[in-house]
Amino acid sequence: MDTSGWTRVIRNASVASGAGSAAYGLIAPGAVAIAGEHIAWAGPDAELPARPPAGARVEDAKGALLTPGLIDCHTHLVWAGSRHREFEQRLAGASYADIAKAGGGIASTVKATRAANEDKLLALAVKRASRLVAEGVTTIEIKSGYGLDLANELKLLRAARAVGERLGITVRTTLLAAHAVPPEYQGRADDYIRCVCDEILPAAAAAGLADAVDAFCETIAFTPAQVERVFTRARELGLAVKLHAEQLSNQHGAALAARHNALSADHLEHVDEAGVRAMAASGTVAVLLPAAFYFLRETQLPPIELLHRHRVPIAIASDLNPGSAPIASLLLNLNMACTLFRMTPEETLAGVTRHAAAALGLAAERGSIEAGKIADLVLWDAEHPAELVAQYGMARPTRILRSGKDLS
Ligand code: NIG
Ligand code: FE
Repeated sequence: MDTSGWTRVIRNASVASGAGSAAYGLIAPGAVAIAGEHIAWAGPDAELPARPPAGARVEDAKGALLTPGLIDCHTHLVWAGSRHREFEQRLAGASYADIAKAGGGIASTVKATRAANEDKLLALAVKRASRLVAEGVTTIEIKSGYGLDLANELKLLRAARAVGERLGITVRTTLLAAHAVPPEYQGRADDYIRCVCDEILPAAAAAGLADAVDAFCETIAFTPAQVERVFTRARELGLAVKLHAEQLSNQHGAALAARHNALSADHLEHVDEAGVRAMAASGTVAVLLPAAFYFLRETQLPPIELLHRHRVPIAIASDLNPGSAPIASLLLNLNMACTLFRMTPEETLAGVTRHAAAALGLAAERGSIEAGKIADLVLWDAEHPAELVAQYGMARPTRILRSGKDLS
């Protein structure tokens, strides 16, 4: 074993590596060696050299659980305003779609977000993201989609990038200009899509502010033909795509996304077998969002069995947003994925590590504890990985490492 370059060793841990054939990739007692920003070695504690290289700091985890840094691969956490009134309306019987059609929903958040300056938005977003980080999340995807014009979409993306710098975590930004038709384009959705393709997308790409492009394919949002135009333009600009697909109805968005080699198709409650088959063929990750399902009191479950049968990788994310998922907890989503969707704790943990990394195009560098990957690691006051999922509000990180360094 080449130990040169080791800067740090965490030993005597219950390492849920997410790699190999054991459940959770568990190595217990296990050890992880770090060289600078990367994982240099992971394996059984007994295989560590008797004498660690000089200069490496060695820590005894005393049997504590060590996982990869968690990855929340779908959030909309930059917004202003509050939709608590809509919560009350929905409890009184209005549906999410009713509220959207009456000018509430996304449109109401757009109004408040446009009125907020970048500093204010950043402060709000940092507060929300820090809740996720406190749960061991070291990589967050953040979408725009509450600006809906050039200046405001770029404002959201800049704020999203700044969240990463402020908290010392990895942020991947996604341009979601095709989230809703803005008020000034009411009744002219095709004209707005032209503005998205001709102005907003190229400007975001030129400024290097978007890592990917997303759209909302739904009766209350955009048609498959409109999404097709956005995706075609995105790919001309060299940007990866992903899609809000089949959340409230089957628009065949998953198959459309797969045709464009999308990184992920998200929500998917109403996806059919043709859509799942297309996703399997293109390697598109299914991102399931239990909080939105729960919060909107949906009854149509995503077809887990179908996704399994076609071996589509499943990621779990918070969807943190003001309207359909105002729940700033990824761990609660893991519990809900088990209780509501009947997934196993092991599957859900893979869903916020390995498969979430794939949903962001980061599978080669993050999402598991393996030599060569970036040393984003979390030590917990728990011993078994299922504890993170089977109970809520109990296990907490005792140490978070991002790129091999303690997150302060
Ligand atoms: O992922 N589906 C569309 N977008 C969000 C909800 C946004 C909102 O209601 O503000 C979602 O559920
Ligand atoms: Fe979403």
